Amino acid sequence: MSVHCAIKRLTAPDIRARKGGGRLVMLTAYHALSARLADPHCDILLVGDSLGNVLYGFDTTLQVTLDMMIMHGRAVVAASRYALVVVDMPFQSYEESKEQAFASASRIMRETGCGAVKIEGGVPFTETIAFLVARGIPVMGHIGLTPQSIHTIGSFRAQGKDEAARLSSSSNQPGPIESDAAAVSAAGAFAIVMEAIVEPLARHITLNTPIPTLGIGASPACDGQVLVLEDMLGMTARSPRFVRRFGDLAAQIDASIAAYASAVTDGSFPAREHLYGLAVTTTTPG
Ligand code: KIV
Repeated sequence: MSVHCAIKRLTAPDIRARKGGGRLVMLTAYHALSARLADPHCDILLVGDSLGNVLYGFDTTLQVTLDMMIMHGRAVVAASRYALVVVDMPFQSYEESKEQAFASASRIMRETGCGAVKIEGGVPFTETIAFLVARGIPVMGHIGLTPQSIHTIGSFRAQGKDEAARLSSSSNQPGPIESDAAAVSAAGAFAIVMEAIVEPLARHITLNTPIPTLGIGASPACDGQVLVLEDMLGMTARSPRFVRRFGDLAAQIDASIAAYASAVTDGSFPAREHLYGLAVTTTTPG
């Protein structure tokens, strides 16, 4: 049997079963090239709506459409074989009603071939998540900083400071972010992204939630971590505090493009080996 036949793509239940097991590795991938490179190293590839900022230069993710997510999702599924591919549900594709969410999510699943969708929001989306899961659509939750709500949140800042401060008090009442985690999990989500949540709260939620948590600016105690690929490769101009730049690709790309530009201007590119149809020149000895 070939190696290719032996590879089975991970599913949402496989990821769910990893709670308390080995840490999950998740990265964003927006197109075939990055999906092909990231797939062998990742458990989950996220076609995140952050593609609006990273690829299209939008200020927010609110301009990203369902059609855009489907086009990018299709490319990532086609170029990967191992990782579970999760596609973000963009703004305005699920908030109106659970029926609207099903129409959008089922289009995403059918037209991309992905294994799950991701929805931003907690308690207010409990019914929607349960509705999708009951109809065969695995859902990943996303709580804490939810960029699609930037206009109501006001700014990209860490979430849950007051709630974390109350963790050690005698009150047993869960705060809003803890309630979001509990609601998303009870509704049947298989995992939750926790974005920009202060560390003690992210740790507390991870310890008390039965499904895997994937941290981005949260806690090393999360069951896995996710980053935007272009941030961690060092391709984006600015990145949040929670990003470690594992590469410096912007500098390498800049140097390569500068080398190309000077080779074109000084005439050293293209060279003989890049040309078609050159007459073969032979030299006769003597
Ligand atoms: O859109 C995205 O890239 C995301 C990650 C930040 C988790 O939702």
